[in-house]
Amino acid sequence: MRRIIMDCDPGQDDAVSLLMALASPEDLQILGITAVAGNVGLERTERNARMICQLAGRGDVPVYAGCDRPLMRPLITAENVHGQTGIDGIDVFDPTAPLADGHGVDFIIETLLAAEDDSITLVPSGPLTNLALAMMRAPDILPKIHEIVAMGGAMREGGNFSPSAEFNILVDPEAAKIVFDCGRPITLAGLDVTHKVLATKERLAPIKALDGAVPQAVYNMLAFFNRFDTQKYGSGGAPLHDPCTIAWLLKPELFQSKLCNVSVETHSALTLGHTAVDFWAVTDRPKNVRWLYDVDADGFFALLTERLARFPFE
Ligand code: BDR
Ligand code: CA
Repeated sequence: MRRIIMDCDPGQDDAVSLLMALASPEDLQILGITAVAGNVGLERTERNARMICQLAGRGDVPVYAGCDRPLMRPLITAENVHGQTGIDGIDVFDPTAPLADGHGVDFIIETLLAAEDDSITLVPSGPLTNLALAMMRAPDILPKIHEIVAMGGAMREGGNFSPSAEFNILVDPEAAKIVFDCGRPITLAGLDVTHKVLATKERLAPIKALDGAVPQAVYNMLAFFNRFDTQKYGSGGAPLHDPCTIAWLLKPELFQSKLCNVSVETHSALTLGHTAVDFWAVTDRPKNVRWLYDVDADGFFALLTERLARFPFE
């Protein structure tokens, strides 16, 4: 059983990631969810995280608001991809459960400091601002981290928000650099795998066929999410970026991976946020990241469908 903190900016794909984790209590114990500004502003990402928990019947999971902007730069958002709410495709509502008291970064620090060494897995699926700030403020948390499993970066796939950079890294490259250089084990699902996990009509059909509010919400969110990708890129469906983190935790055999050095560009105006993945070990930089480079996409959707079929929990 992994004890995890999910750090997110929902986002339809973050929402699916949360639901997949909430549906997997035998594998994952969610200690709390911290929201960060990213796809949309913080007041919407934290609201969306609470909505998703309520939809899943898990209003008891504490949701904290974290940072409302990157460490050193103005916030970039992605309403063009996710819609004005961040999770367009479903009707938003005011969740019953209030925000948990305190700042998300304090929650991360306090939870880790109170934990055994090497015991907590952090699962970020947005810009890495909350994690980086926690590491800067309280370096003593580092030995408590078992692993960081993040969505971010790209090697062969180039960028999705600039020619060279993936969105989560581009929004807060300094934070990504701090996290990537922290010395704890890191697994990264970048665009090289997430662009294979496309929510095509065929793969969504079994989800559409499931009864219940949660699978229907997932179907409706992904139907919206698909519009952007299919219109812009002519692809068969939108990439389910963030749930690759949870899929890796649940079923690592779905992925191919390699230990590599990954370094983040924080200076160049042209390639800001680029992840330089030393896949062929042409430098002697430390192998700080397990880089996921291939995935069994149909296996991923089979797992997602199986987990969504578990809702509602009794
Ligand atoms: C990442 O950016 C966001 O738009 C998604 O939620 C995902 O975390 C993909 O580049
Ligand atoms: Ca995200």
